[in-house]
Parts: sequence; C-alpha cells; structure tokens
Amino acid sequence: MENYILSNGVAIPKIGLGTWHNTDEDTVEDTILNALKIGYTHIDTAAVYGNEKYIGDAIIKSGVPRENLFITSKVWKTEYGYQNTLRAFEKTISDLQVDYLDLYLIHWPCSPSKREDWAEINAETWHAIEDLYKAQKIKSIGVSNFWNHHLDALLNIANIPPMVNQIEHHPGYRQQEVVEYCRQNNILVEAWSPLGRGMVLHDPTLTKIAQKYNATVAQVCVAWCIQDGILPLPKSTQSDRLKSNIEGVSLTLAQEDIDTINDMNLGSSSGSYPDAVAF
Ligand code: A2P
Repeated sequence: MENYILSNGVAIPKIGLGTWHNTDEDTVEDTILNALKIGYTHIDTAAVYGNEKYIGDAIIKSGVPRENLFITSKVWKTEYGYQNTLRAFEKTISDLQVDYLDLYLIHWPCSPSKREDWAEINAETWHAIEDLYKAQKIKSIGVSNFWNHHLDALLNIANIPPMVNQIEHHPGYRQQEVVEYCRQNNILVEAWSPLGRGMVLHDPTLTKIAQKYNATVAQVCVAWCIQDGILPLPKSTQSDRLKSNIEGVSLTLAQEDIDTINDMNLGSSSGSYPDAVAF
C-alpha cells in the first residue's frame, strides 16, 4: 500500500478502514481479520464507536505485528479538557491493547453554538494531545470535523499544528473551503463516509463513470479522493466489498470525469454539521 507523508514525516497508508457502526463482537472480528488478509493496514476507530476492545482482540488474533499497522482513534466530546483527554487516551490504548497510537484526533470541535469558551475547551484538549505526542505515545495528531473557524482558533494556540483533519467528504459534498484551508496549512484531509454512507452508490452520473472503467461506483469514490490527495476511509463489513474497495486505489480517472464529479451537488449524506450537531 502506498502512503501519504504527514507534515511531521510520518507515513500513513493511502486508504483506511472505517469502523463506525461496527459494534457486534463477532462482526468486528470477522471484518478486521478479513481486512488484514485483504491488505488493509490502516484502521480508523474512535472511543465512541464502542469497538476498540474487539478491534484490539482481532488484531492480536491476526498475528499481524503492531508496527505493520496504522491505528487511529479519537477522543469523544464528553472527555474534552486536559485531564479528561489524558484519561480517555489511556482507556483507548488499554482497550485496543496497544502501547501507542499512530494517530489521535479530537473527534468533533467544541463549537461556538455550544459554549462561549469553545476555543479554550478545544485548546485544553489539544494541549493534552500535544503532550501525549511529545511523550511519544502518539506518532501523529490531528482533528476531525473542524471547519475553518475551528482550525483558525486551534492554530492560534497550537504548539504543534494538527497533521490531519478528518471530515465528511464524498462525491456531491466536497467541503472545498475546508479542503483548501487544510492544503494551505499542510494538513492531510481524511474522508469519512467517502461512499456517502452508501447513498451515492446508485447515482446515475457515478454509475456511468464507473461503467466506463469497468469499475464499481465505490472504487470511483476511492480513486476520486486519492487523485485529489485525500485519504478515504470507506466502511464495509463484507469481505468482497472490502476487497473491491481497496482495489479502487489503483484506478486512475480521467480529468474530465474528475471534473464531472467535482461539479456534482448531492449535499451531506449525514446532515451532521459541526456547529449544529445535537450531541
Ligand atoms: P456494508 O457494510 O454492508 O458493505 P461510507 O463508508 O461512505 O459510510 O459507506 C458505508 C456503507 O456503504 C455501508 O452501509 C456499507 O455496507 C456500504 N458499502 C461499502 N462498500 C460498498 C460497496 N462496495 N458496494 C455497496 N455498498 C458498500
């Protein structure tokens, strides 16, 4: 698997396996064991997904050496603040049964719509993550669902700037202002729900493009991200789909098809906007 190189020099595999909603112990184990056999080395989880322990068990069962894997997790909103974040991190690595993470993210920003001191809360959480990084317990650090005003405030206080921002990104919902901001600040964009939660997979425009390459729409979504320097995190529990999705990494789309996809407007498939989410 080819890598992107983060701003601190750390290599990150160009595609990762998303694991949100995969919470049943047996299903998690099957998914992870299948994915590792197929060639995934990058697994994305979060404390709030409730599957870190099962992912850790599956990794141990697989026998794949820890250093061959890239593991990401995220601190949830209820754990924000300096001490809470340190505690949340310890629980995450204990559940995953690892002694370091490759990437640790603030899962969602505390936002102006929620609290007046939102920027201070994000700063406290960030300083805890920076200290874990300095203590070499995390190889790279970042954020998720941060829009430009959240990033502005964070970059003002950061001693170590974030290396990654993981956002919703799929055909029809590019969040181009955030992507541009990240590019200008050397922050790698990761795409959650790069298949639009499966909702874009029957889109007629994408279906026509996929047919041209004898590919699946999911493969087109993966290739479209990668050709734009974005890292897709597609989710699947089914081994044939895990296999075909990862094969999308080697698909090359013509510029005219990339332009067509860039011009699509399907909106957010989740409806979860960082300043408006109910949680
Ligand atoms: P399943 O787990 O049954 O494969 P996203 O990553 O954008 O959130 O999309 C995830 C959804 O897309 C899941 O419901 C997943 O279901 C489905 N999915 C993933 N890969 C494929 C594929 N290649 N073909 C069809 N559906 C897929």
